[in-house]
Amino acid sequence: MKEFLPSFVFNRSRGLNKQKVEDINLKVNELIVDANYVNLVKDREIVLELGSGYGDTIIHLAKLYPQKLFIACEVYPKALMSIYQRATDENLTNVKLFNQDARLLLKDLKDTSLSLILVLFPDPWPKARHFKRRIIKHETLALFKQKLKNNGEVFIATDHESYKEWIANVILNQDFFTWQADCEADFTKEPDWWVQTKFQSKAINEGRSTAYIKLK
Ligand SMILES: C[S@@+](CC[C@H](N)C(=O)[O-])C[C@H]1O[C@@H](n2cnc3c(N)ncnc32)[C@H](O)[C@@H]1O
Repeated sequence: MKEFLPSFVFNRSRGLNKQKVEDINLKVNELIVDANYVNLVKDREIVLELGSGYGDTIIHLAKLYPQKLFIACEVYPKALMSIYQRATDENLTNVKLFNQDARLLLKDLKDTSLSLILVLFPDPWPKARHFKRRIIKHETLALFKQKLKNNGEVFIATDHESYKEWIANVILNQDFFTWQADCEADFTKEPDWWVQTKFQSKAINEGRSTAYIKLK
């Protein structure tokens, strides 16, 4: 039995034949790390992104904060290839990849090792029978809490109305984190480091607003 119910859409290699997927795997392998690698990192803040997509945010942040280490977790081969290409083109040595379910990496990390976990525009799983696949749930927040440093943060963004409500409910039914918001405007305000991703541009074009959720 699978350890975690997949939170990503199956058949992530659509549009790619077996050979192409193998070629990508071979190439991106250069930047792939495991928990043993991350657990040996010392004196450096570590940021993990769960579901990096094409890498818009992680590449932007890696350039902004060269002293921090960024782990991009993604399962979609084309997306992994994009992050790999952008990191190598820009000579970014502080970007690494994990190409399986991010929770498999997280569970093997030393406790209190991360300073920030990003979950930006997670797959919304809009049908009720799929809600259990949504990555933001009690167990995931418990895992995040365990792996974050004392003052560590989780940052979530979503443009999906029913997922916004779902996330609010998950947060209100846990006591690991405090929601960092004083007023409604805090949910609609981008953080200073924000960069618009491909998924957000699509949401904006389709008239959907983004909620920004910071937990500490
Ligand atoms: C809707 S996309 C958003 C990508 C990116 N954050 C952005 O804003 O452009 C969600 C991504 O999360 C990835 N994903 C979902 N669950 C994951 C998991 N458990 N581990 C790693 N990646 C995951 C999917 O493959 C997908 O590419």
